[in-house]
Formats: sequence, structure tokens, C-alpha cells
Amino acid sequence: MDPNDSQIFIFEPMSRRTFSLFADFIQSELGIKMPESKRTMIQTRLRKRMRSLGIISYDDYYDYVFSPAGKETELIHMIDAVTTNKTDFFREPAHFDYLTDKVLPELARNRGEAARLRLWSAGCSSGEEAYTIAMVMNEYREKGSKLTYSIYATDISVNSLKKGIMGIYDEDRIAPISMDLRKKYLLKSKNREKRVVRVTPLLRSAVKFQRLNFMEDEYRFNQKFDIVFFRNVLIYFDRPTQESTLLKICRCMRQGAYLFSGHSETLSGMKLPLEPVASTVYRRSNTFTNT
Ligand SMILES: C[S@@+](CC[C@H](N)C(=O)[O-])C[C@H]1O[C@@H](n2cnc3c(N)ncnc32)[C@H](O)[C@@H]1O
Repeated sequence: MDPNDSQIFIFEPMSRRTFSLFADFIQSELGIKMPESKRTMIQTRLRKRMRSLGIISYDDYYDYVFSPAGKETELIHMIDAVTTNKTDFFREPAHFDYLTDKVLPELARNRGEAARLRLWSAGCSSGEEAYTIAMVMNEYREKGSKLTYSIYATDISVNSLKKGIMGIYDEDRIAPISMDLRKKYLLKSKNREKRVVRVTPLLRSAVKFQRLNFMEDEYRFNQKFDIVFFRNVLIYFDRPTQESTLLKICRCMRQGAYLFSGHSETLSGMKLPLEPVASTVYRRSNTFTNT
């Protein structure tokens, strides 16, 4: 048990002014919309950090986060606390069927049967999406394809990236994974009381985790991607930020590369070098069109 759990903390409510200081930072540095209606949510999320530091006032916490020492140590925890990292294995499963049935055969035809494909899980959270892609790619190879692949997984949340690198998940997270795939790609803990699984070294070695903030001016990768999963991130951004982020992502994609977006996200009306090919699936084109 956390020693602080036994202490009673009475937090002072967050003032409108302090909320707007946090909100300005979150919106300008992370791109995440922070209307006044999110004040309660932000208070709740920051409380755990404040408790662990023994701070009861949001003003004091703000001053600490942006002090020279806080910028070194606390800022990354604050960012972890304010990002929403909800994810799942095989989330929006139709995308993985489309990948196998349409995208991979097409890329094998255009890029060569034995091409090395580069995939990007952009806003990967704790790695479930990237490992799902790795399972699907590996299954495709086992069915006779010579395509090889590498997967980049990026996020701003350091805590999420650490979880992804470890590749250890609670057993109750693996329900969307079929029994066959579980047997092949997940290892049970030797200590059965732990009720966790770890993805196999084969999958772990296929995924490279890296910190990347979508608000950077450009995304520096040494080669372009063939397939990008950019799902359930846009919803947190306002429209101009969505469009500028997508444009930077497009610059990292080869001509003819595919982009998957989340089912509740719409790119319609944005001027981007993308053409829609199926519901929430796009292909990089060389001309700007209204998607
Ligand atoms: C809801 S999760 C989506 C995870 C996964 N793509 C999926 O669909 O299941 C959104 C992720 O976007 C990340 N994110 C939010 N703002 C970001 C930014 N400015 N730069 C990079 N990642 C960001 C969050 O940390 C979070 O892990």
C-alpha cells in the first residue's frame, strides 16, 4: 500500500485562474483541448501526483511543476496524468481485416513481394495497438508472404511508453485476442498469482518505442512510412491542430501509403494529400484534396 494512502489530504479547490494556467500549457504544448468543463477532471487527475509529493494546493503544485527542479522531474508525470491513454488490443478490429485483405496484398504488388514495410502506431499509448499490428503482420508472413516489417510506436506519455516497452499486461486486458494468438504471442507469468502476461520477444523486438510530441514542428524519421495508425488521438485536438498534425504525418508517408484513423474521427473537409479508400482509411496521394 502507498504510505500516503493512510494520510488524509484535503485539497484546496483549483481556482479558475490556476486551471487556466494549466489549460494554456496543455493546449499549447500538447495540443489537447482544455475547456473550463474539464476543470474537475484535471483536479482529479493531478491529485495523485500532489498526494505523492505532499502538496495540497494546486497553486503550489503549478509553481513546483514549472520550477527548474519540477521541469526536470515532475513535468513528465504531469503530462502522463493529463493525457488519456485508453486503448485495447484489436481495437476497431475491422481495420486489421482491411490491413490483411486489402492493404498488404496491394503493397506487396506495388513495393515488391519481399519489401520491408515500415508501420507507425502514432499515439500508441501503452503499446496494445503496436503489438496487435505485430501479431497481424506476423500471421500474414506465416501464411506465405515474404514481406518483412518494422513498427514504430510513439507517444508523449513516458509512463505509457514504459509499459509498452515492458510488454506486460493484466490478463483481463487480453480478452479481444483470439485463443490461437494468445498461445503464440503471449507468455504467462511463472508466478500464477500475478495474473499478467508478457508479449513474446519476437513481437517486442519488432516494435521500437519512441517519445514524440505531435506539436513538434516536424517529425524526424529517417525513412517514410508505408502504413500509419493514427487513431483516437485527433479527438483531443481542435480542428486547426488536427489538420496541421495530419499534414506533418502525411509528410512522413510514402506516396500510396495508408493511414487508419479512429472511427469517431472525421477528416472530411480538411485539405490534405490523402484520398479516402474505405471508411476511416486513407491513401497518401500526391495532390491535396478535400478529404
Ligand atoms: C486514447 S489514446 C489512443 C491509443 C491508440 N492509438 C488507440 O487507438 O487505442 C491517445 C494517446 O495519444 C497520446 N497523445 C495525446 N497528445 C499527444 C501529443 N501531443 N503528442 C503525442 N501523443 C499524444 C496520449 O498520450 C495517448 O496515449
